[in-house]
Amino acid sequence: MSLLLCIETSCDDTSAAVVDTAAAFDAGPIRSSVVSSQHEFHAAFGGVVPEVASRRHAELLVGAVADALDEAAVGWDAIDGLAVTTGPGLIGALLVGLSGAKALAYARRLPLTPVDHLQGHLAASYALGVEAPFVCLTASGGHTLLAVVERGVEFRVIGRTLDDAAGEAFDKGARLLGLPYPGGRELDRLAARGDPAAVAFPRSLPRGFDFSFSGLKTALLYHLREHPDAAADETRRAAVAASYQEAIVDQLVSKTVRCAQDEGLRRVAVGGGVAANSRLRGRLAEACARHGLEPFIPPVALCTDNAAMVGLAARHLPAVAWPDYLGLDAYASEPALDRRTR
Ligand code: KG4
Ligand code: ZN
Repeated sequence: MSLLLCIETSCDDTSAAVVDTAAAFDAGPIRSSVVSSQHEFHAAFGGVVPEVASRRHAELLVGAVADALDEAAVGWDAIDGLAVTTGPGLIGALLVGLSGAKALAYARRLPLTPVDHLQGHLAASYALGVEAPFVCLTASGGHTLLAVVERGVEFRVIGRTLDDAAGEAFDKGARLLGLPYPGGRELDRLAARGDPAAVAFPRSLPRGFDFSFSGLKTALLYHLREHPDAAADETRRAAVAASYQEAIVDQLVSKTVRCAQDEGLRRVAVGGGVAANSRLRGRLAEACARHGLEPFIPPVALCTDNAAMVGLAARHLPAVAWPDYLGLDAYASEPALDRRTR
């Protein structure tokens, strides 16, 4: 047994988890997972306010760590190391988690594993027992990445977004539709009551495996301008939301399936907050069944930001020994991704 206390504070969720990195997936490596959402503190501003997020992380982190240990029914003596997200994300928010992890690891003389947020999302499907190589679509507020996970959390980029991330497309669409923050989840809920074929939004499909969402967002803006009554009538609004969501999901599912076929891989995984979308989950499962692919769709709580995925990724990454990690820094944008070749 090797228990890691994991911390993730890259955006607006303060989360801590205890993960057994030696346990096979069917033994349940995730011993506890605590997520303190800050949504209510940001809702009044219509989005995440970085300074508010950092302050809330500072207030919530110690409690989240204590709850994660409690839920796993272990004390500090049972913990063999820590793992923490070091980027990309909101720099102040990341620094709260990283400083907390360093302090705890230093005090307990434990090693610390720095984890990239994207690799965390990629690793979520390991909770379902996926085996590399596999195709993974990671779609969140900051990323839309289609990759082949070659081994552990090492991946080869196949496609990425040319403009907005898929999560941004959901959030901006939600805002145009007058939905409250957090927009993606609200749009998902509204769309469940609408006809996805009601409005023929454009399917902008860049060549190859890249994605593009900004044209779709503009099409929604124009549609709502031309049909001002659509936003006022609940049935019409649900139909517009469902059609808009369908255009995003179409693009994500079709490219993911084509990538698996092109790469000759059967296993297809998803991760990131957008993978919580009910329509994406349903359509991907259906497309995989139709094309003889095996889907790995983690539970919603493992798709949106959480610390358990940090532990699942840390299993495949080197730990930094005590006290060498004290100089580790956080990073706001992805330094490694641009260097990875297609
Ligand atoms: O991974 P995540 O929790 O944080 C980032 O790393 O960004 O992803 C957040 C994104 C947001 O854009 C949010 O609107 C979107 O995931 N999201 C959803 C759903 N739940 C969260 N988008 C569509 N449908 C959902 N149910
Ligand atoms: Zn994320």
